[in-house]
Amino acid sequence: DKSGHRHFMAKEMAEQPAILKAALGFYGVPNSGISGLPEGVDFAQADRVILVACGTAHYACHVAKYWFEQIAHVPVEIDIASEFRYRAPVLTAKTIAIFVSQSGETADTLAALRHVKGKIAQTIAVVNIPTSSIAREADLALPLHAGPEISVASTKTFTAQLLVLALLSLKAGVDRGRLDAKACDQHLEALQTVPGYVAQALDREDNYRSIAEILAKHDDVLFLGRGLMYPLSLEAALKFKEISYIHAEAYAAGELKHGPIALIDKNLPVVVMAPRDDLFGKTISNMQEVMARSGKIVLISDKAGLNATGGAEYTITLPAVPSFISPFVYSVPAQMLAYHTALARGTDVDQPRNLAKSVTVE
Ligand code: F6R
Repeated sequence: DKSGHRHFMAKEMAEQPAILKAALGFYGVPNSGISGLPEGVDFAQADRVILVACGTAHYACHVAKYWFEQIAHVPVEIDIASEFRYRAPVLTAKTIAIFVSQSGETADTLAALRHVKGKIAQTIAVVNIPTSSIAREADLALPLHAGPEISVASTKTFTAQLLVLALLSLKAGVDRGRLDAKACDQHLEALQTVPGYVAQALDREDNYRSIAEILAKHDDVLFLGRGLMYPLSLEAALKFKEISYIHAEAYAAGELKHGPIALIDKNLPVVVMAPRDDLFGKTISNMQEVMARSGKIVLISDKAGLNATGGAEYTITLPAVPSFISPFVYSVPAQMLAYHTALARGTDVDQPRNLAKSVTVE
């Protein structure tokens, strides 16, 4: 049942504010402060945290790496499951590994879990399906509470994964004495504002549609971002490839001049994700390098960011939010630009060619 939406993907994107609100409730965030953080894990003695997943779930892990390092000061490794299990990852009795999967059945992620189980301190599953293999086999399972996701492209489960990982990073910060009760409360208060901001970001449909109609006329699109916006750019490019079949790539904005800048000309649209945070000036100077070579810019920022910069041909204005929660808000344009570009191209949004919802083979 698409509840009046044209596609399951549209319905699932629209559900995000309600799901995030409910998930905050399930994890006891509104009232219980620190005591509402996920139980059953203690990061105090961890020598490192390893986050393993595939596809979109991997990009959620990539965001989480920044959170864990910044908030909990713990060494973090991220890897895609199909690489992790064929490397010789260094594991110790103090390592905590987190496996993130919507389905809980992804073959490589499950095999990676089996690969480390018994050799490290603890395995944690962050999954949507609580009865799945990954949930059952991990020492601790933390559900997303996102409800069934029908569209092949992950949307609501991405933001729900971000939420559980954000709570885990706060737990790690508290366990390791890096986050006191007051600072933890401030982060939790910020998380409670996420559903409202995501709703505001969703409420820009005409803006997304008109920019998507331009992107749909191109064969390549580049996404740029720094810091937390780097994994968001990667996720935006993945969604774009997956459902619009347009080639898209993401780069850390600072990496542009190490090669990909050679691609820039007037025919290449470059989507820049740049909230007005500490890295804003750096990202904008990379954007100006693109403009100097006639690249077509779509700048996604907040009001202050857009006021401070001129010259972007197209813009999307998002609410200004604390940097910690910006990944939730910028997930919306990442999803919406892909969705509307796919509509403009007439592709099968919910069932993109060659893809399956759950990848149970290697
Ligand atoms: C992209 C997408 C895939 C999945 C990946 C992992 O929109 O849906 O990249 O994220 O196949 O699947 P799960 O999360 O079920 O392990």
